[in-house]
Amino acid sequence: MNNQTLILIKPDGLTKSLTGNVLSRLSETKLDIVGARMVQVSRELAEEHYRELKDKPFFDDLVKYIMGEYHKKKVMALVYYGENAISKVREICGKTNPEEADSVSIRGAYGRITTAGVYENVMHASANPQDAEREIKLWFTPDEIIADIYSTIEVEEQTKTLKWQ
Ligand code: TYD
Repeated sequence: MNNQTLILIKPDGLTKSLTGNVLSRLSETKLDIVGARMVQVSRELAEEHYRELKDKPFFDDLVKYIMGEYHKKKVMALVYYGENAISKVREICGKTNPEEADSVSIRGAYGRITTAGVYENVMHASANPQDAEREIKLWFTPDEIIADIYSTIEVEEQTKTLKWQ
């Protein structure tokens, strides 16, 4: 079954120049990239992305980590689409704890746990179709995705937008 998944290359991945390595590993899946953008993560976006974890003791550090407080302040967000995209990407991504992740997985190869106990695990990948939908809609607008993955409505809006001068 075809599905779509959100991938984030987290600030530690960008700071360590691992973008190419992560994308090469992901290309083994032969999935289609249907969205990509660089994001400076606001506290609002970070807290919303990880809202299911807000009662965990590591939540504050996790929010700071994804906002880039410990690394470069940027994240690369991607949407991959294709046959079993969610499970294929989770497989290559590896377990949440980088010390427990298979050593040939992305997290196993490049992740670490800091002395403060934060899992710096290089990338995020949606866990299931419900999470993927919530996460993709949080990180992307419909016109940033070049495939019809969710239904849309046309809304007339008058907003100020930046144009190249
Ligand atoms: P979670 O959604 O449980 O895992 P995954 O990213 O594999 O879907 O957790 C989100 C992030 O929270 C995880 O990538 C790293 C961080 N985290 C910790 O720092 N410590 C922990 O004990 C756990 C479970 C997660």
